[in-house]
Amino acid sequence: MNILAIETSCDETACAVVGDGVRELASVVASSKEFHEKTGGVVPEIAARKQVDFIVPVIDECLNQFGDKKDIDAIAVTVGPGLVGSLIVGIEAAKALSLILDKPLIPVNHLIGHIYANFLVHIDIKFPAIALIVSGGHTDLVFIKGHGELEFLGGTLDDAAGEAFDKTARILGLSNYLGGVLLSQKAATCETNSLAGSLPRPLLTENSFDFSFSGLKTATKNLIDKKAFSVEEIACEFQEAVVDVLVEKTVKAAKKFSVSNVLLGGGVAANGLLRENLMRALTTMGCKLVMPPIRLCGDNAVYIASAAFFNNVSQPLADIVPNPSLGITSTF
Ligand code: KG4
Ligand code: ZN
Repeated sequence: MNILAIETSCDETACAVVGDGVRELASVVASSKEFHEKTGGVVPEIAARKQVDFIVPVIDECLNQFGDKKDIDAIAVTVGPGLVGSLIVGIEAAKALSLILDKPLIPVNHLIGHIYANFLVHIDIKFPAIALIVSGGHTDLVFIKGHGELEFLGGTLDDAAGEAFDKTARILGLSNYLGGVLLSQKAATCETNSLAGSLPRPLLTENSFDFSFSGLKTATKNLIDKKAFSVEEIACEFQEAVVDVLVEKTVKAAKKFSVSNVLLGGGVAANGLLRENLMRALTTMGCKLVMPPIRLCGDNAVYIASAAFFNNVSQPLADIVPNPSLGITSTF
């Protein structure tokens, strides 16, 4: 079954075709990131207008890569969470395609999509499993009994992990917008972390699976104000603090639910230290860590198509509407 998926939840416009949820057949991603760099944050109005500019050329290019549109069996689209103006563009385009090609339309939750980036490269994923989704807007820990059977364990009480990376990158003067990757590159150049353990590891001792990262920003700012440490050292200690919390909570969840597989997903899943430390901690306890390749961690439509295949809930077109605040276990 070939599913053509459209993803427009924020500042990426993406279209992909995936066979049986696991074979990537075509994929195109355009981004309006450069426009938001100028303003130091995503401007929803600009993001939506860029979605309008990009959507037709992106779908067109994806169909050119794929071949004959008669071989498309269903359309899928992200319905949330995200920016309402951006979501509308993708949803309306998907509805039009569904009508023209006379194929069903499958709504997809963007957060669940991130988990399915793993299915494009791993054939032996076993349920039940734990999934950690770490993106710019979310930090969610879930127990997955099977496709479509998710139990929410905990999430962030304030900033998401990616948001904390981005805000700290800004305080450190590294980047105005989406500086997470630059922060991690800076941290990698720190030879000795003389600040080891000096930043808080929020909620680590709490008996819950919730996260809190906003206090780390203030603590990092206080370190910067002391003018005694290099940007490299502060970036390194900040990254260690975030990763320590993510790893320990995920390990605790894997132990509690006795799972043999843990699935990672979201933009922050590209972080080298998180991948390395989580792999080490889980391997030690005999648990397998399944990670998406770096190129599928950020937003794209490949994983939306895969999620649609394994969670096929096609709905009447009139019922498919944007849901900007959709949670990971919410129904559409
Ligand atoms: O999933 P994603 O592409 O978009 C959302 O759905 O939010 O995640 C983007 C987030 C941004 O906050 C970005 O800075 C962060 O992922 N990110 C990273 C790295 N690469 C991307 N954070 C830390 N280390 C990285 N290597
Ligand atoms: Zn995302």
